[in-house]
Amino acid sequence: MRQAGRYLPEYGEFKAKHNVGFFEMVKTPSMACEITLQPLRRFNLDAAIIFSDILVIPQVLGMGIDIVEGKGIIFDFLLEKPEDLDKLYKDANVCMDLKYVMDAITLTRHTLNGQCPLFGFAGAPWTLMKFMIDGGSHSPLPKARKWLKVYPEASKTLLNLLCEKTVDYLVGQVKAGAQILQVFDSCAGELGPDAFQEYSLPYLKDIAYRTKEKLMECQVEPVPMVVFAKDAHFALDDLANSGYDVVSLDWTIKPTHARRVVGKHVSLQGNLDPCLLYAPENELKTEVKSMLKKFGTQRYIANLGHGVHKDVNPDNVRMFVDAVHMYSEEINAIS
Ligand code: CP3
Repeated sequence: MRQAGRYLPEYGEFKAKHNVGFFEMVKTPSMACEITLQPLRRFNLDAAIIFSDILVIPQVLGMGIDIVEGKGIIFDFLLEKPEDLDKLYKDANVCMDLKYVMDAITLTRHTLNGQCPLFGFAGAPWTLMKFMIDGGSHSPLPKARKWLKVYPEASKTLLNLLCEKTVDYLVGQVKAGAQILQVFDSCAGELGPDAFQEYSLPYLKDIAYRTKEKLMECQVEPVPMVVFAKDAHFALDDLANSGYDVVSLDWTIKPTHARRVVGKHVSLQGNLDPCLLYAPENELKTEVKSMLKKFGTQRYIANLGHGVHKDVNPDNVRMFVDAVHMYSEEINAIS
């Protein structure tokens, strides 16, 4: 989940000192590396996630996107009708155009020097489609979901394009040094069970299978892959059989239910409510302990159920991370 970012004072200081915007930092490998490492300097984390954004894929397809303080995500145009797909650069070479991400990954992997594994990531096709049609802020009309009903064929053309580019992008990230990959379908829940089956799941599956296949074709060992389909409870069993090694859970799913549904062949990640980082220390610790007891310490990655909110006190993130280590050691000692 988002571990770098606005809740860390050093992130704000770095941004102000260099007087740079979000995407300028993402596009400068030395800066992206530095920000990736910021949370690791503060907390005893077991993994790093490269500082970047899922929106770099729509950018290389030709959509100008900026993130402006106080205004959020700004697109220079949105997709309104199928003909707008012609505006996209279908032949974009993502590994070349996103060489800065690859360079940031390689630099960070070297700098980490084995301290912990480095996650690469990408957005899922449906979540990217949703942003490309609805934009960054809440659209008053469900325009992206309307596309699925009014332009089903064009929707699939777009999802296929995003899928193809994402596979190349993830393969490139592994070649550059990413040791585990996470695919974020942050907008999965709003699809509902039927639309998820048709417009998200097939593309998620394709990404897992084709990424692994392409890596093997180039003699690169595939890495574990994680799928995070936020609010898609209805699809837990499908997600467990979708070619991913880990299913990441938001905080609205009961750990015991998730384990029962997915079985033992996949690992789980999650799922502490990010708002518990606002709770008093005792409550946070009790909830962490209870979460670990329910998931167990094997085939499980302790994490939040979504990103850290921007007004969270970093000391509470430390309490979370330390509590995970403390209680999992306790559980391991008695089992
Ligand atoms: O630890 C990390 O920070 C890893 C890097 C990371 C970012 N975004 C950095 C970021 C990751 C993994 C993401 C993924 C991402 N980006 C997702 C999927 C995960 C999720 O949260 O659901 C999504 C949906 C996005 C798109 C996006 N980018 C949003 C919705 C926002 C917030 C915009 C706003 O105005 O609040 C961003 C911006 C963003 N991405 C920030 C960071 C650190 C904040 C940028 C800033 O203002 O400095």
